Amino acid sequence: MKVLVVGGGGREHAIVRALARSPQAPELLCAPGNPGIAAEARLLPIPVSDIDALVAAARDEGIGLVVVGPEAPLVAGLVDALDAAGIPAFGPSAAAARMEASKAYAKEVMQAAGVPTGGWSSVATVAEGMAAITSYPTVLKYDGLAAGKGVVIAPDEATARATLEDFLVEHRFGAGRVVVEEHLDGEELSLLALCDGERAIPLAPAQDYKRIFDGDRGPNTGGMGSYSPVVGIDTAKAFEIAALVHQPIVDELARRGTPFHGVLYAGLMLTADGPKVIEYNARFGDPETQAVLPRLQSDLLELMLRATGVGGTDLEGAELVWTDAWAVTLVLAGAGYPERSAAGDVISGLDDAGLAALHVTHAGTATREDGAIVTAGGRVLNVTALGAGPAAARDAAYAGADRIRFDGRQLRRDIAQRAVDRHED
Ligand code: AMP
Ligand code: GLY
Repeated sequence: MKVLVVGGGGREHAIVRALARSPQAPELLCAPGNPGIAAEARLLPIPVSDIDALVAAARDEGIGLVVVGPEAPLVAGLVDALDAAGIPAFGPSAAAARMEASKAYAKEVMQAAGVPTGGWSSVATVAEGMAAITSYPTVLKYDGLAAGKGVVIAPDEATARATLEDFLVEHRFGAGRVVVEEHLDGEELSLLALCDGERAIPLAPAQDYKRIFDGDRGPNTGGMGSYSPVVGIDTAKAFEIAALVHQPIVDELARRGTPFHGVLYAGLMLTADGPKVIEYNARFGDPETQAVLPRLQSDLLELMLRATGVGGTDLEGAELVWTDAWAVTLVLAGAGYPERSAAGDVISGLDDAGLAALHVTHAGTATREDGAIVTAGGRVLNVTALGAGPAAARDAAYAGADRIRFDGRQLRRDIAQRAVDRHED
């Protein structure tokens, strides 16, 4: 079978690799991909925003399954367009992807489904926003896609007002409302579930590091590192949380006539009152996927076909098998990230023999005319290592990451430290 992965980041690189391990030996294509993915899949130079060209290419190539990585094409209706063309696609429809596209819609569905989440209100003006804040810190979320950068934790009134002005008057991310949300305390957990429109089966739990600097300081990013599994979240606990936060959403969306197929990602805060949802995404997480999928021993292609309903199948009775090994993923980001994106810095060390046993995925790289691999901005590379415990995986990941150099490289030094501190090796 021919499988087309849509996207060009580290997440898509990890998806391509996991699909390549399928016993069904699929022929892999990726649009637009990146220089790292080019070694493992045939690239089609089509941007993820060009829905017509993606559908035409999938038809011309005789693709048996399209796997959509990023949120933007999901929200823009790529899966709907492929569906209309009779091409199976793993991922939610635009209507179901609204769970990610609109924070206010997600809150409304959570409320209808009885999913635990923080108190909130949706506001359109600075005055409404200030009036909705009951205590500090408070959380302000732009009600639309913002690449993980539309959330501000405001410690005081001045920051809250400035943020509301930035979002609602300056329109930093475009027109749109703001969700004012109760600040939740606790540890974060990323729990993703495979969904077939009726069922939600949790993947292995992961933790993501959202802030740019060590010690969770500095602005939010798309994610600077991740690890899997998570101390205290065994399989039974993951299923318990999925029954609380994934299954009711799948049920509610089915009831609304917009069934959810694909990956429903719950970003959770493990509070003293139990898990509460801080966000849903309608796709695999980045960089969680880079830590989660290398641990999956089941056939990802078969699971995706079943989630999509190809041949009338579904996920009933599906069992996911994971290695006991731990995985730690480090993100190497370019100079200035997340505020600005440096590009064109030459990357050295990628062919170092010491990286052979690791999973290096490309996120923001480009090939220069002379063949050199250079940075293309944002998050540049991911290094994932597996190990018997979190310390072994962490040490191997850092040893690998330190073999890769480029100007302005940013790398957090405390990824997975929490797991190392708590795990009893
Ligand atoms: P989101 O994009 O909604 O996941 O928000 C990005 C990050 O902001 C989260 O990973 C949390 O670190 C933080 N955050 C979001 N909502 C809350 C909340 N209600 N309380 C505390 N922190 C939050
Ligand atoms: N790592 C967070 C996300 O994928 O949204």
